[in-house]
Amino acid sequence: MSLQSKVETLETNGLEKAEIVRIDQRHLIHPQHHPSEHLNPHVWVGGDGVTLTSLDGKSYIDGLSGMWNVYVGHGRRELAAAAWRQLTELSFATAYAGSTHKPAVELAEKLKLLVYPDIEAFYFTLGGSDATDTSIRTARFFWSAQGRPEKFKIISRRLSYHGSTVGAAAATGVEEFSSVFGPRANGFLQIDTPYPYRFRTERKDVSPGVAAADLLEEVILREGPETVAAFIAEPVQGGGGGVIVPPADYFPRIREICDRYEVLFISDEVITGFGRTGHWFALEHWGVTPDILQFAKGITSGYFPLGGVGVSGAIKQVMDSVPAERRWMHGYTCSAHPAGCAVALANIRILEEEKLVEWAARQGKRLLGKLKLLGDRPHVGDVRGLGLLAGIELVADKATGERYPPDSGIGKKVRNALFSRGLLTRLIDETICLAPPLVIGDDDIDRIVDIVGEAIVEVTETGR
Ligand SMILES: Cc1ncc(COP(=O)(O)O)c(C=O)c1O
Repeated sequence: MSLQSKVETLETNGLEKAEIVRIDQRHLIHPQHHPSEHLNPHVWVGGDGVTLTSLDGKSYIDGLSGMWNVYVGHGRRELAAAAWRQLTELSFATAYAGSTHKPAVELAEKLKLLVYPDIEAFYFTLGGSDATDTSIRTARFFWSAQGRPEKFKIISRRLSYHGSTVGAAAATGVEEFSSVFGPRANGFLQIDTPYPYRFRTERKDVSPGVAAADLLEEVILREGPETVAAFIAEPVQGGGGGVIVPPADYFPRIREICDRYEVLFISDEVITGFGRTGHWFALEHWGVTPDILQFAKGITSGYFPLGGVGVSGAIKQVMDSVPAERRWMHGYTCSAHPAGCAVALANIRILEEEKLVEWAARQGKRLLGKLKLLGDRPHVGDVRGLGLLAGIELVADKATGERYPPDSGIGKKVRNALFSRGLLTRLIDETICLAPPLVIGDDDIDRIVDIVGEAIVEVTETGR
């Protein structure tokens, strides 16, 4: 019997969840798969605004916007309608050279108005990992096309997350994404991250932000600038570090160093793009422009898989001027999928019409302001955020910042305490990450903060 017919049959006798889970456990592989995490999974059946509903009828505040991506909230019919209209008119056409379609052209034209002024042209992917691979390959292509193929190394940062394809995982600064999959791809190097709560430097002559940025210069000089193609960084480190906001002087210094040594700067805005931090793109906070901008998630609010890369005029000019046999030989079948582009356009329209970027800035202040009040609790080490991204880092010893031992299971206990109170979040190590939909109202923000406070007290103070 198919899953659909089993569900239909079982819906009448109340056993449906157990059966769905049994089939799932046998036949479905999940991102970051492990059965110990999947003994009693949520089975989601509905979503509306900032709320998700599970098969057992319970409602949860979606404190992470799905997977940091459902910016405009769940259940938006405008986005379903945009996909339906496009799929019934032109469901698919290749975007390979020699062929194009209106939704892709309109999206590129629209993005040109929203992104950093120097970003000139766009390539659309299916998500963030392939956007990272596209950026890396484009940076290497840029130098190789100009007769400098030895300029191929990619520098990234520890605790970064850039995706799970071979190239993106090699740039990712969390060891577990590489260690069980054999050797890392060649030509990837990492520097320490500007983590204000934990970054330490011996240097007294400059600020910690500048000292952290200067680590990039050190590695470029050590390796030889003629070997380094690009530096890739998330403006706010999300999925690897647990919402790490850099000091304000970090990225301006990074830009200077990249310029000095002819290293392209790739801004990975898969989490921070499209208004999440209260600006359309996050480097705007610090007046910095990248050479390559990559995005995914918020561009469609998760209603269709789409990501992409925007490149500077200089890069586009190189792409346009190489001989055909040395072309940018890169491409995906579903690149610039018509429905993805149509959904992205409709999603951007909502962001604009509902002024959600400004709203994210306002609601982010409310969220962070209230979370900061939890900073007095004995095991809250750090509370940080930018726009509607926030992290609350729990520590064993507040005076020294010492972490909980790895086998304490504290993260899991906190997550369960949050779930049981109706809040969905993600814990990165012992940091509770929050990134609610941009449409969130005051009451839901206050509810999130109340739940986080109660869960922290329950797990870290009463020891349950
Ligand atoms: C900064 C960043 N880059 C890249 C990715 C990978 O994106 P995707 O999961 O769409 O492949 C993610 C995913 O969380 C991300 O946060």
